[in-house]
Amino acid sequence: MITPTLVLLAAALAEAAPTGKQTKLKQADVSKIGTQEGLFPYLAGSGPHFDYPVSYGVSKDIPEKCTLQQVQLFARHGERYPTKKKGEQIAETYYKLSNYTSTLSGDLSFIDEDYEFFALNSKNFEELTTWDNIQDPINPYVGEWDAQKHARAFLHEYEELLENTTTFPIFTSNSKRVHDTANYFGKALGDKYNVSLQIIDEDASSGANTLTPIKSCSTYNDTENAGVYSKFSEKYLSDIAHRLNKQNQGLNLTKKDATNFYIWCAYEINVKGYSNACDIFTSEELAYFAYYDDLTSYYDNGPGNSLGPTVGSVNFNASVELLKQHEDLDLKVWLSFTHDTNIVNYLGSIGIFNPDQPMPVDYVPIKNHIYHKSWMVPQGARVYTQLYQCSNQSYVRYVVNDVVIPIEKCSSGPGFSCELGEFVDYAQSRMNDTHYVSDCKIESTSNQTALTFYWDYEQKNYNASLIRK
Ligand SMILES: *[C@@H]1O[C@H](CO)[C@@H](O)[C@H](O)[C@H]1NC(C)=O
Ligand SMILES: *[C@@H]1O[C@H](CO)[C@@H](O)[C@H](O)[C@H]1NC(C)=O
Ligand SMILES: *[C@@H]1O[C@H](CO)[C@@H](O)[C@H](O)[C@H]1NC(C)=O
Ligand SMILES: *[C@@H]1O[C@H](CO)[C@@H](O)[C@H](O)[C@H]1NC(C)=O
Ligand SMILES: *[C@@H]1O[C@H](CO)[C@@H](O)[C@H](O)[C@H]1NC(C)=O
Ligand SMILES: *[C@@H]1O[C@H](CO)[C@@H](O)[C@H](O)[C@H]1NC(C)=O
Ligand SMILES: *[C@@H]1O[C@H](CO)[C@@H](O)[C@H](O)[C@H]1NC(C)=O
Ligand SMILES: *[C@@H]1O[C@H](CO)[C@@H](O)[C@H](O)[C@H]1NC(C)=O
Ligand SMILES: *[C@@H]1O[C@H](CO)[C@@H](O)[C@H](O)[C@H]1NC(C)=O
Ligand SMILES: *[C@@H]1O[C@H](CO)[C@@H](O)[C@H](O)[C@H]1NC(C)=O
Repeated sequence: MITPTLVLLAAALAEAAPTGKQTKLKQADVSKIGTQEGLFPYLAGSGPHFDYPVSYGVSKDIPEKCTLQQVQLFARHGERYPTKKKGEQIAETYYKLSNYTSTLSGDLSFIDEDYEFFALNSKNFEELTTWDNIQDPINPYVGEWDAQKHARAFLHEYEELLENTTTFPIFTSNSKRVHDTANYFGKALGDKYNVSLQIIDEDASSGANTLTPIKSCSTYNDTENAGVYSKFSEKYLSDIAHRLNKQNQGLNLTKKDATNFYIWCAYEINVKGYSNACDIFTSEELAYFAYYDDLTSYYDNGPGNSLGPTVGSVNFNASVELLKQHEDLDLKVWLSFTHDTNIVNYLGSIGIFNPDQPMPVDYVPIKNHIYHKSWMVPQGARVYTQLYQCSNQSYVRYVVNDVVIPIEKCSSGPGFSCELGEFVDYAQSRMNDTHYVSDCKIESTSNQTALTFYWDYEQKNYNASLIRK
């Protein structure tokens, strides 16, 4: 199905796209773009951005008769190409297909139909998708554009907090794609604002003064529970491989190839706006894949890891500190950009998506499933902390990918918010048993035992060199 708006949008974009690039437009491309958004929640957060899919209908606008006091953003970089590792991995599957001597049929027949594989050029690995590096100029999911749209939406919602401020910082890790996202976001706020990017080093030498505290945690073991989720059935993967092999005699695809098709599907949409590889899967196979991703995220980086919330407490603690100091701080808008893993750590410390029980591996807990990784951290993820005043009291709440996510046990304030004093107690109890500096042996690699950049950026002017990973 193709909506009239989309056709107009596609036409406008095609016109606005940079010239000088030889891009062959095919009718098939146009008709497929925009038809796969229903799949985005099942693509492990590797496909384009989407709003949190479930809400209780609570408006993300500040409740009537309340006034904004502060906003914080903890955001992920926008849509990107696969990493070098993932790119090379899916290319292996592509080579198997391209070397197959007969004509491919069934779900894979698209390969033989004037198809151009999207991830052969290694110079694109790790990079944000931009108007200059995408494969199809009518792709509406470009990372560069997502950052710009996000900036405009941010201004629409929060500009009043900048009424006395034109010069301010945006904090970003020194990963190039994260930096580029922050930069596109900053520029899209307009010439009225003089944004300085504060580029914080991801290196372990940053210690606790970082947007990526997992990298400084020398005791962190992300596979400590790999033995748990390795028990999750891989039948959905062998089903896919068998089906494709049956359609193509002598094509010996494996479970590994089946996994690669999911990655192929997700990243190709970031590059082209759609992917034929997505048509390989049944809806059940998408559900199994999504749950497996939730499991690995939960046990590797989320609350299922013994140090997940501890690592996340570095940024949660700083966030709480900014809220507590809202009256003294001139700046009312605190914008930070980092990676999905760091946001997952952070959310694990806050606790709003933490399941009551360890996540099961012998079945998919359809009715009792709050930990959907892709819903929390799709590409371009945005976790907002709102602080607002209603009559004489201040309230805090979270808005994750444009949906209000209350702290259930502290949500009786206006708009399902938590009164600031109660919120501080809640946060203290969440972090009471976490000791990042000692548990992570920070002092073995760094003398920075506290997060200070929000407070000392004017003196320090953080400017770490960019890294491409
Ligand atoms: C398939 O083709 C690629 C490049 O054309 C080559 O590098 C690769 O070794 C070939 N074989 C397999 C099994 O991938
Ligand atoms: C801007 O300054 C005015 C005058 O001091 C003050 O009343 C107002 O609250 C300030 N706005 C913000 C968002 O800080
Ligand atoms: C922009 O901000 C920088 C600090 O980041 C400052 O040195 C410069 O004077 C500002 N420019 C304007 C026009 O305000
Ligand atoms: C991480 O934990 C797993 C499971 O306990 C263990 O096998 C592995 O050796 C650990 N890795 C490190 C680096 O400690
Ligand atoms: C697939 O496996 C069969 C049986 O092991 C083998 O004869 C055939 O050459 C393999 N095909 C490819 C493309 O590797
Ligand atoms: C939390 O932040 C405060 C203020 O920056 C700092 O003094 C304290 O050490 C931090 N606590 C933890 C556990 O990081
Ligand atoms: C805040 O308002 C409530 C109800 O309007 C009132 O009972 C309370 O005393 C006020 N608190 C302060 C600190 O002004
Ligand atoms: C934090 O833990 C200490 C010791 O376990 C306990 O005495 C204290 O009440 C706890 N504080 C909060 C706010 O939960
Ligand atoms: C931390 O170490 C760096 C590099 O050795 C040094 O320049 C800095 O002064 C030290 N900072 C503190 C707070 O000791
Ligand atoms: C960062 O700024 C300092 C001081 O201005 C300068 O010495 C250093 O070379 C800069 N580093 C980078 C990576 O630009």
